[in-house]
Amino acid sequence: MLRAAVLASGNGSNLQALIDACAASGFPAKIAVVASNVPGAFALERARKAALPTVVLDHRPFPSREDYDRALVAALQAHDVELVCLAGFMRLLTGVFLGAFPSRVINIHPALLPAFPGMHGVRQALASGVRISGCTVHVVDEGTDTGPIIAQAAVPVLPSDDERTLAERIHREEHALYPAVLRLWGEGKVRVVGRQVQVEGAPSALSLRNPSG
Ligand code: GRF
Repeated sequence: MLRAAVLASGNGSNLQALIDACAASGFPAKIAVVASNVPGAFALERARKAALPTVVLDHRPFPSREDYDRALVAALQAHDVELVCLAGFMRLLTGVFLGAFPSRVINIHPALLPAFPGMHGVRQALASGVRISGCTVHVVDEGTDTGPIIAQAAVPVLPSDDERTLAERIHREEHALYPAVLRLWGEGKVRVVGRQVQVEGAPSALSLRNPSG
């Protein structure tokens, strides 16, 4: 059984989707710990409700990002974590963290990368006039949303959309895509080879599931 950590700074709806997926019998992964840098994050409430161990590590007292990452690594290693899933974790991770979990940190982003990386993927997609957007699960590297892509799901961008409606549509896809990737990872079907990700049994990342729109 794959031991995953979920790191979240906010609402944690993706965390909830992962919690719910892991509760299904036969699911090949479990959430070993939920960590947050925000003491009041609702994600922590969700974790406690699901009786999952939590780590609250406020970044503010730490003199540097590296110091913070060292402490976070130690906290996760104490729970024998094998895979780290970022789910709205609003901090850039340094080489200290990524080196401790090489090619084993993944993130979900609300756009079809490499388009619209960064904090405002939904807003930028709308502003750009694209007719299709979506979400991406990718391996984390030291850039901002630049790591190798594991899986994507697409949604239409409708003429009537504002940021809220498009974000909601994308969120629905996120809540299916992230658990699907965790399952594949737990089944040993995801291999990261340099900048490429091979997903066994899925001829392309997009074929993991059909976007429902
Ligand atoms: C999601 O849209 C995810 O793509 C981005 O942060 C958001 C987190 O939402 N990285 P939630 O906290 O899981 O509801």
